Amino acid sequence: MSGARAPIAVIGTGYVGLVTAIGFAELGNEVWCVDIDAEKIERLKGGEIPIYEPGLAEALAASSERLHFSTEVGPALEHARLMLVAVGTPATYSGDADLSAVDAVVEAMPASDQHALVMKSTVPVGTGQAIRRTLVRAGKSELSYVSCPEFLKEGAALEDFRHPDRVVVGDTGDWAGDAVVELYEPLGAPLVRTDIASAEMIKMAANAFLATKISFINEIANVCEETGADVLEVALGMGLDRRIGNAFLQPGIGYGGSCFPKDVSALKQLAGNSGYHFQLLTSVIEVNELQKRRVVSKLQKHLGTLIGRRIALLGLAFKPETDDMREASSLVLAARLHADGAHVVAYDPVAADEAAKLMPGVELAASALEALTDADAAVIVTEWQEFRGLDWNRVAAAMRGRLLVDGRNCVDRDAVARAGFTYEGIGR
Ligand SMILES: NC(=O)c1ccc[n+]([C@@H]2O[C@H](COP(=O)([O-])OP(=O)(O)OC[C@H]3O[C@@H](n4cnc5c(N)ncnc54)[C@H](O)[C@@H]3O)[C@@H](O)[C@H]2O)c1
Repeated sequence: MSGARAPIAVIGTGYVGLVTAIGFAELGNEVWCVDIDAEKIERLKGGEIPIYEPGLAEALAASSERLHFSTEVGPALEHARLMLVAVGTPATYSGDADLSAVDAVVEAMPASDQHALVMKSTVPVGTGQAIRRTLVRAGKSELSYVSCPEFLKEGAALEDFRHPDRVVVGDTGDWAGDAVVELYEPLGAPLVRTDIASAEMIKMAANAFLATKISFINEIANVCEETGADVLEVALGMGLDRRIGNAFLQPGIGYGGSCFPKDVSALKQLAGNSGYHFQLLTSVIEVNELQKRRVVSKLQKHLGTLIGRRIALLGLAFKPETDDMREASSLVLAARLHADGAHVVAYDPVAADEAAKLMPGVELAASALEALTDADAAVIVTEWQEFRGLDWNRVAAAMRGRLLVDGRNCVDRDAVARAGFTYEGIGR
């Protein structure tokens, strides 16, 4: 079999698992995918992608002969040694990570020195050690364990899989760590090979740092508003400093999504559970929560009461190029506006189905212009490309009011002003 790529298994075919599976299939690995969601597996078997992620459908079609889908772990165990685990690890009510899906996967593993669990899911530091203790108690100590956290971004997930900034492998020095290094080798990324706890911490610290950068620039934006500076100029000037860098210096109405909120909270809780008060992260979280609500104050500043006002939200997904609505800022914003008596009408190019389930009382429109028709004010919540290209004269003719809150600083404010609008950005 020299030269052939090793078959692998991927357990959990969500945003991370599916991209990882398709990515490795593209590299020539046979990939055995497992998910407990039978409907998802059926759709995947039919060649259908259950999520919105650019390029994924084409990539699935191109490598479909190497992808095998099942709700059972048996075929995966039969064909592959590395079991890449990509199940969800959402937050519990206490803010800790909910590891029940990970635990279910561990329980389903046999006592085998031929297999390894490779943790792609984001888990708190110490999880690998705890799993290894569980395996010993269950008489499965020969099963190997590797931490290989995932750093891809939704919206550019396949690109990130193909060109990762780095691959992190945390292991105990047995065959499985080497096998994971070999698996990722064709991607040519810098490798950080370390112990399991450090690998787990790299993932949590990286997300916490990015979230900190966002909350930092959001606070700078808020101070800019009070002092007459323009945060876009400030971010440009800061970002050109190579020690700072321009990534994640875009002010807005707060971060959301399936990762930052829960991972920042999980790290804060992890520190707290170990007796350390992570003061900085407490502020990062609070700043983010307040940032989502600043839009409401901006609307009130111009409209007075929001009772009976028709407010159009443009974009609902937590960021562009995804249908993921988990912890999206739009959810908090819509609920706040609703509570203040506004009528909320919203449009998103791809997240409408998810939004319909999560946003009771919000009227969903089929296009941006439909959402904007007769609105007293518009708010750009997610910076979808199509909003940048709106014809503001047409929008002005359709709307009742002339107020635009650009929650992502993404449209040409001069063009908006020329169409007769009052423009409110963030930090400008
Ligand atoms: N989404 C991202 O951008 C991203 C990026 C990096 C890391 N992560 C981490 O990766 C993990 C997965 O995230 P996601 O966004 O892909 O989640 P997801 O919710 O999209 O997918 C998880 C999948 O696991 C399946 N599943 C649950 N229990 C299972 C079990 N016992 N056996 C088999 N399948 C099971 C679910 O049905 C679902 O399809 C999380 O820990 C997340 O923090 C996510």
